[in-house]
Amino acid sequence: MINVLFVCLGNICRSPMAEAVFRRLVEEEGIADKFHIDSAGIGDWHVGNPPHEGTRKILEQRNISYEGMQARQVVKADWEKFDYIVAMDQQNMHDLEAIEKEVEGVKVARLMDYVEKAEEENVPDPYFTKNFDYTYHLVDKGCKALLAEIKQERGV
Ligand code: 4NP
Repeated sequence: MINVLFVCLGNICRSPMAEAVFRRLVEEEGIADKFHIDSAGIGDWHVGNPPHEGTRKILEQRNISYEGMQARQVVKADWEKFDYIVAMDQQNMHDLEAIEKEVEGVKVARLMDYVEKAEEENVPDPYFTKNFDYTYHLVDKGCKALLAEIKQERGV
């Protein structure tokens, strides 16, 4: 099993979007059974909540399911369960490093680090920018690049 955790600040806008988009990609490729995909937030403000309506709208427009998704907070035990921890921005990276040190076998990187010549290093937070379309554009690009890298690394 390949375990992938997407992380953002609130776990209602960006990381649930990435979780849903990445799940759709592996389903389309017929390799969903090889993956465990989840998302979590640095903060606990929205624990138990479904994705933000802006994220829901973006996903609904593309018929991408977010059924059953509920925000949760990142916990130390995630470093034992996941192979790839994928942060949305540098602040998430900083916050993740404060929760747990480097663990062997766990790759912690930003989503846009997987994209060659990416137009952004960080996925802007649509909770503040209100631009869910641009965030989706980056998340989609990032998820495709992440999957390509995982397939290469893991021989999927
Ligand atoms: P996200 O966006 O990290 O993409 O889920 C945010 C959602 C909520 C808050 C911050 C960012 N908040 O401060 O409540």
